[in-house]
Amino acid sequence: MDVYEAIRTRKSVRSYLDREIGDEVLNRILGAGRLAPSARNDQEWRLVVVRDRNTKRKLSEAANNQGFVAEAGAVIACCGVSGGRLMRCGQDPMPIDVAIIIDHITLAAVEEGLGTCWVGSFYADQVRTILGIPDDIAVVELLAMGYPKDPSPAGKNRLALDEVACYESWSF
Ligand SMILES: Cc1cc2nc3c(=O)[nH]c(=O)nc-3n(C[C@H](O)[C@H](O)[C@H](O)COP(=O)(O)O)c2cc1C
Repeated sequence: MDVYEAIRTRKSVRSYLDREIGDEVLNRILGAGRLAPSARNDQEWRLVVVRDRNTKRKLSEAANNQGFVAEAGAVIACCGVSGGRLMRCGQDPMPIDVAIIIDHITLAAVEEGLGTCWVGSFYADQVRTILGIPDDIAVVELLAMGYPKDPSPAGKNRLALDEVACYESWSF
């Protein structure tokens, strides 16, 4: 599989088989994430990988009762450690860096036959309590991951290319 195929094939998976994700597979996927770029190479990301059923159920409740979070083989709490520094452009690099490692993980997961779903609808304080994450660490996103019940590719409902990209100067 090349990277274009992985990008085309990735879809949000919200229904998972009851099948464990082995250590080797998980390590390959997380290892790909680890290679993601980050501002100043600060790598301000930290991941808490949860495979325990009871903890996943609690995370599902903290995620607005989204049931697929409990079904997933693993749920990754994607966190950011940040000194609160802004880049010269005025943006905080931390959530950007965390998003990039997540994206690397989602694409590597496709290569391994796994599906993923980003989860932003969750109560960060509840996740922090469940996982013992300190107050000064941002819980940026949860990522559900597992073997999909339906591995077929899904259609992509996206803006046309000329709606998202223009050339040489702003012409939207
Ligand atoms: C930052 C972010 C937060 C998201 N939060 C949720 C969520 O809480 N629950 C959910 O079911 N999907 C969530 N999604 C998945 C999006 O709905 C999905 O990526 C989008 O509809 C495009 O579909 P696709 O991923 O199948 O291409 C989230 C995606 C992103 C990038």
